[in-house]
Amino acid sequence: MPSPHPAIVLPRLIAHRGLSAHAPENTLAAVRAAHRAGCDWVELDVQLLGDGTPVIWHDATLKRCSDSRGKLVDLDLPRARRLDVGAWFGDAFRGERMATLQEMLALIEALDMGLNLELKVNRGRSAAALVECVVPTLLETLPAQRLILSSFDGNALALARDLAPAERLALGVLFEGIPRSWRQRCEALNAFSVHCDWTRLKKAQAQAIADEYRLLCYTANDPTAFAPRWGWGVDSVISDDPERFANHLPN
Ligand code: G3P
Ligand code: MG
Repeated sequence: MPSPHPAIVLPRLIAHRGLSAHAPENTLAAVRAAHRAGCDWVELDVQLLGDGTPVIWHDATLKRCSDSRGKLVDLDLPRARRLDVGAWFGDAFRGERMATLQEMLALIEALDMGLNLELKVNRGRSAAALVECVVPTLLETLPAQRLILSSFDGNALALARDLAPAERLALGVLFEGIPRSWRQRCEALNAFSVHCDWTRLKKAQAQAIADEYRLLCYTANDPTAFAPRWGWGVDSVISDDPERFANHLPN
């Protein structure tokens, strides 16, 4: 029976938040760095500014990854543009600006890369507003074969599924620990993949999941510690520093 999912050729390695070991996370610079390092896919986080602009950003707040403080939700785009989101990482990145989703998708398209986009529904934020903004933009911009939309937020994924069928939009279900209900949750979404915390994954669970879904593990940066898990059916590792895994991949 043909798969209802897009014909996604998953790479073994996906750069987490771009090449975040070597460039400021979730920036255009981090995606360019991932491409230069030979990565075909990146994982990035998306959420909305207070004015509804979708931007590539992980935290609810600004302090960790910019030269400012406060909450993302309190910014509009002109104010967000004034932040320096590179200098915190290193002088070489001074002047880097927060990327909008549109800008990031244009770069991903120009570099012919794949994108695992995580809908980041931080506390108090609306899953519906994020999904209604992001999903149509994704569908207009990236081919189904180079896109996975993932989230910890089951409501966000269900809303995304309402907007796009499985053959057009691969959904990735993010878990920390794998719950007993993993199969029902994946079935209800017609999910493409399960993305889990590699440190909490157990062999029997992994094998059961990998029988039915693609299995991705975040965020692994130690290829030796990770190594046994390749034999459990893991398809891809999401890493801050994928180059470390170069000589540690299964055949
Ligand atoms: O998508 C995998 C991983 O990014 C999930 O955790 O907090 O790094 O977004 P976090
Ligand atoms: Mg993420």
